[in-house]
Amino acid sequence: MRILITGGAGMLGSSLIPALIGAGHELVVTDIDLSVRRPWGSSGPTLGRLDVRSRHDIADAFEQVRPQFVLHLAAETSLEISDAEPDHGYLTNAIATKYMALACRRAQVPLVYISTAGVFDGTKVGPYTEFDAPNPLNVYGDSKQKGEVFVRELLDDFYIIRAGWMVGGGPKKDHKFVARILQQVREGRTAIHAVTDKLGTPTYTPDFAGCFLGLIQSEVYGTYHMACGGEGSRYDVAKRILEILGRDDIELVAVTSEYFVEEFPSERPYSEIMRNMALDLQGMNTMRPWPDALDDYIHTYFPDLVAPGRVLSPA
Ligand SMILES: NC(=O)c1ccc[n+]([C@@H]2O[C@H](COP(=O)([O-])OP(=O)(O)OC[C@H]3O[C@@H](n4cnc5c(N)ncnc54)[C@H](OP(=O)(O)O)[C@@H]3O)[C@@H](O)[C@H]2O)c1
Repeated sequence: MRILITGGAGMLGSSLIPALIGAGHELVVTDIDLSVRRPWGSSGPTLGRLDVRSRHDIADAFEQVRPQFVLHLAAETSLEISDAEPDHGYLTNAIATKYMALACRRAQVPLVYISTAGVFDGTKVGPYTEFDAPNPLNVYGDSKQKGEVFVRELLDDFYIIRAGWMVGGGPKKDHKFVARILQQVREGRTAIHAVTDKLGTPTYTPDFAGCFLGLIQSEVYGTYHMACGGEGSRYDVAKRILEILGRDDIELVAVTSEYFVEEFPSERPYSEIMRNMALDLQGMNTMRPWPDALDDYIHTYFPDLVAPGRVLSPA
């Protein structure tokens, strides 16, 4: 298929694009950030510019590319920026998704929209499934949820795929929790703080890419959760990172979210734990347990941080 991709220079794009190229698809990859023209490596297409906030840019892209399938990854993913500038958050995540859905409707092509566990309010005991009702707590979650509503209202053929805590992209692209912990290790910190009162499901982007390829081949459209297996707190993820690195000399200090309130003032759900229930029931869930995926990630992208001779016991 000829696939038009938005936001392709980000964390998820760094895994999805090589996987789609490997599967033989013809890609036109765009982003607002053109600082690296081939973020996914030396092969494959050069990044083009498409600001999804401009419906004229979107119309031009559809006219030029004539896509057979659209993968909409572009988003404002910062909760703090979205809360501080709500119009920017809603324009980038909700209105731009409406533009993309309308363009797909006119062109009669399917759309993939990536959403988030942050559409839930976090009060549920047990994992969220696709049958649970969203109730977002912050502008980011609400703007992504409004994007979902536009996709469902405007299209018949769509995949809305909710990811959990994103893990991937390596040293160049990762700007999330795992990269922050690894950066502290690199800086030689002797103590690292991580919260015990935020629960979720890490989502490793190469695993997501593999599962995604299977899903889009199926043409079983709808709403999906696509996170790694298992669950844990941010503290549990940090603990696993230090285990993988073999760094029992670094003290891991358990704190509550209050500790980071100045740096991360946005309200976050207590639980973002998801189960890939639709994928499970349809026999399509290929996501690994997150501790194994994290092991793979660190050994692939950050081997220099692993203590020499480290042999990891099974998760
Ligand atoms: N990151 C997570 O933890 C997470 C979790 C669940 C779901 N998701 C969803 O997964 C999708 C992919 O996110 P990601 O993790 O790959 O995040 P990412 O690394 O921030 O990638 C998003 C990309 O979109 C670009 N972008 C921002 N505004 C744009 C615009 N107006 N027009 C075109 N491109 C624009 C960003 O550029 P700049 O970097 O220059 O802004 C970035 O390259 C998003 O829809 C996100 O909401 C992410």
